Amino acid sequence: MGPEALKKVLSHLPPSRLRKEVLVGLGAIDDAGVYQLNDEQAIVQTIDFFTPIVDDGREFGRIAAANALSDLYAMGAQPLTALNVVGFPSEKIALEILGEILQGGQEKVEEAGAVLIGGHTVDDEEPKYGLAVTGLVHPQRIIKKTGARPGDVLVITKPIGAGILTTGIKGGLVEENNIKNVIKIMATLNKGGARILNFDVVDAMTDITGFGLMGHLFEMIEASGVGARLRVTPQYFIPGSEKLAEKGVVPGGTLRNAKYLESHVDWKDTPRHRKFLLCDAMTSGGLLAAVKPEKLDSVLVELKKDKEVPDSIIIGEIISGEPRIEVN
Ligand code: CO
Ligand code: CO
Repeated sequence: MGPEALKKVLSHLPPSRLRKEVLVGLGAIDDAGVYQLNDEQAIVQTIDFFTPIVDDGREFGRIAAANALSDLYAMGAQPLTALNVVGFPSEKIALEILGEILQGGQEKVEEAGAVLIGGHTVDDEEPKYGLAVTGLVHPQRIIKKTGARPGDVLVITKPIGAGILTTGIKGGLVEENNIKNVIKIMATLNKGGARILNFDVVDAMTDITGFGLMGHLFEMIEASGVGARLRVTPQYFIPGSEKLAEKGVVPGGTLRNAKYLESHVDWKDTPRHRKFLLCDAMTSGGLLAAVKPEKLDSVLVELKKDKEVPDSIIIGEIISGEPRIEVN
């Protein structure tokens, strides 16, 4: 569902009766809900699941789990527990495949330092998998999408274009090494990035998923009342994705994002295929952080040292003014 449609549906819900313990609730645009337990602890909760985007069961499980956990990392929370959410056509597909999916998911939950404590399965025409996850954060150290300030430097921890690549994979248009690479990127936890891009060094943060880099950046700057300027380079893009976008291999979600963003972006002379890449609806993308300028040098040193985030790059900066994105 596109960002506009989603906003519409949510706007028709009656306002939830808030308690003071709800630090981030339904009305917020943040990546997960936050409920305060005491002076030192708040729980952060979110859920994500979807249909397979790759053929291999175990890889699908890994990607789905990394994706679900990502919203916890984006808010500065430490993953604690996870529950499997499963839809599976047990008459049509061998149960071993379900076993592989669950193994892949569990692997990532354990890598995150969290623990799987249950789940629920229903019969479904099409397989679906994901997790409901809970994390812990200090109530004074919640990272939100609001708070980006002019001068902040924008950093992403994974390159973009995974939506276009997975669409290309389904059409048999992607070379083996590029398939392996994009699967590895999607299955990588945002753990390393979140350890470095923590509450002390960022003013705002989110993760890049269905609304694409531009959609999630726009949410951030709109909520923060600032603008953004991007300097686009080939390093932004996962190998193989530019070629596919040039050929017009673009998923529906990406097209919807591009349409929605048209009036919020100064595209200058950005080529058409790059517009699509910048708006590409991703699964399990990286973190998008507005880094405090005085912390940038130390952040870059840390990011360079960390082998979990080899593709982190600076993509631009926050500027004052209208919530618009300038692309150069
Ligand atoms: Co998110
Ligand atoms: Co999510």
